[in-house]
Amino acid sequence: MGEAGSAPTRLWGGRFESGPAEALARLSVSVQFDWRLAPYDLLASRAHTRALYGAGLLTEAERDAMLGALNDLDRACRDGTFRPTAADEDVHTALERGLLERLGTLGGKLRAGRSRNDQVATDLRLYLRDHVRMIVSRLAELETALLGQAERHADVAAPGMTHLQHAQPVLFAHQLLAHVHAFARDADRLRDWDKRAAISPLGAGALAGSSLPFDPRELATQLGFTAAAANSMDAVSDRDFAAEFCFAAALIGVHLSRLGEEIVLWSSQEFGWIEIDDAYATGSSIMPQKKNPDVAELARGKAGRLIGGLTGLLTTLKGLPLTYNRDLQEDKEPVFDAADTLLLVLPAMAGLIATFRLHTERISASASVGFTLATDLAEYLVQRGVPFREAHEIVGHLVVWCQVHDVDLHEVSDADLERISPSLTPDVRQVLTVEGALAARKEQGGTAPQRVAEQLTALRALADQHAAWATS
Ligand code: ARG
Repeated sequence: MGEAGSAPTRLWGGRFESGPAEALARLSVSVQFDWRLAPYDLLASRAHTRALYGAGLLTEAERDAMLGALNDLDRACRDGTFRPTAADEDVHTALERGLLERLGTLGGKLRAGRSRNDQVATDLRLYLRDHVRMIVSRLAELETALLGQAERHADVAAPGMTHLQHAQPVLFAHQLLAHVHAFARDADRLRDWDKRAAISPLGAGALAGSSLPFDPRELATQLGFTAAAANSMDAVSDRDFAAEFCFAAALIGVHLSRLGEEIVLWSSQEFGWIEIDDAYATGSSIMPQKKNPDVAELARGKAGRLIGGLTGLLTTLKGLPLTYNRDLQEDKEPVFDAADTLLLVLPAMAGLIATFRLHTERISASASVGFTLATDLAEYLVQRGVPFREAHEIVGHLVVWCQVHDVDLHEVSDADLERISPSLTPDVRQVLTVEGALAARKEQGGTAPQRVAEQLTALRALADQHAAWATS
């Protein structure tokens, strides 16, 4: 921020006798957070300049001078030689000051036919469409990292869990791919969001459209939007794109938190499934032996602020009358914070995932621990005509017997099996292997190696599509 006390460049002073009270000015100012919209505001200003020329409101020389000054201002903003001052109310005010400094009175022509109301809604859409592409890029990298681990460990079995209790064996890759599906839906959701966000509010002016003869559709095309808003009142009031983005971001946060929680568990002494690479772990200031999963914990923790941002924004929007109300200035911080947060967390999680080492022996050894083959046994009995209710009972007894005798299912002798139930003939052994249990789950969506390999191929293609969309 530049000098306090520079001459104010208010955009609305005409009818006021006194200047604003200090308390009002301090409450009203948004330039400290909306300054990041400057490049987008300047893009829109260049499009607006061409529209004014097209409408005969600027001569060719004026248009060229205006575009030259806007380009110069853009460069000055980027290299930091032009900065907002404490007297600039918002990004629009600061940039008009920059334009007036360069062009004198000609700079004052740019404001014709537009208002900060359609400008700010346009800027935020442009900002988000840009940042959503960056987020989708980072999502694609995370998808790719998970896919890489799944591919490297394609045949490693793990105990699949419900209620965090060993349930049935799965391929560890199957579990990793479950996370990929969630992030792939997130990327698809943002691509879909983009279709609805690609509507230009420019031309709506303050709320009713402009009496000046320029075509909002022309402005929309210049800025890469697919259409101009069909209703000027909706154009300046609508923040659905911001709320929807915050929702998509919050859900990504929730997905990251669930993956983060699993990483915390997997890297614990108790699980011992993975070792986090040193580059993505932290130490303790007192306990020299510690290696902590802070990336995963921060990923888990950041979900809170993303959900909070969404909740705050929806609460701001609730009950607002049409059209623009100053409450809407509160739309920006949650949106910016959500984008910043994801752009911080996603690369860290992608790095952590890409580099963890899997203790393959330990994880596969635990795949059958906790009688995870019990369902297979019951289903085997079902295939031999035993009603499932009875099969469930028989296997339940067998499990208790095993617990009492401290053995695993496959360690029970033929004679003991038969004593527990005459249906448990020696050929039950064929289903008492993890490999058998995995291979048997071969229907669509199951954890059989072939199904998992197909999923992997399909998800790779999808992740590549996400990466390609993000840079298109
Ligand atoms: N800084 C304002 C915002 O972010 C810009 C729009 C101001 N419009 C107005 N009518 N006061 O919402």
